[in-house]
Amino acid sequence: MEVVEAARPEPDVRPVDVEVVRGLRRRILRPFQPAAASAYPGDEAPEALHLAVRAEGRVVAVGTILHQAPEGEDDPAAWRIRGMATVPVARGGGLGRAVLDRLLEHAESRDGRLVWCNARVRAAPFYERAGFSRRGGLLHFPGIGPHFFMWRDLPRDGLGSEG
Ligand SMILES: CC(C)(COP(=O)(O)OP(=O)(O)OC[C@H]1O[C@@H](n2cnc3c(N)ncnc32)[C@H](O)[C@@H]1OP(=O)(O)O)[C@@H](O)C(=O)NCCC(=O)NCCS
Repeated sequence: MEVVEAARPEPDVRPVDVEVVRGLRRRILRPFQPAAASAYPGDEAPEALHLAVRAEGRVVAVGTILHQAPEGEDDPAAWRIRGMATVPVARGGGLGRAVLDRLLEHAESRDGRLVWCNARVRAAPFYERAGFSRRGGLLHFPGIGPHFFMWRDLPRDGLGSEG
């Protein structure tokens, strides 16, 4: 008998004000830190994008992209992913990936060529699934545990034959 997999509904990912993402950021990513720790530098920049998925009126997944180069680098085509979080009951359901894909599209549509993040070690496989690679060893940030620097190029249509 042929087994037909039920199609997963497309998550309803929407741009939101930064205040919307900060609640889940704090709850999931920085629960033991003051609220101010969930406000990131560059959050309010006009080119920043904050996305959220809601279910039954509650925010269940969030993510942000900022126009920022890695520390010590000066690359105007670099964008940074921050504040990726999905509520525990919804994890593994494709919400994080849907948010991440939309964030990459945002950078790509603004001439982004490199996307990077400091990924929590436990989240590194999530980024690897989306084409990111690790660079360097473990990074330690006080209060939030070990991270890897991770990055990926953005493919851009129509540039293949240009110099
Ligand atoms: C990381 C996080 C945002 C992923 O969100 P999510 O909604 O569960 O992600 P998705 O369901 O879209 O996962 C996409 C793919 O990555 C895989 N994946 C996600 N998290 C993973 C993990 N920790 N380990 C291994 N694989 C993982 C999924 O299985 C899925 O694989 P598939 O392509 O085969 O279906 C979520 O686990 C989370 O909030 N974690 C705690 C906070 C955190 O660490 N955030 C990242 C900060 S850098």
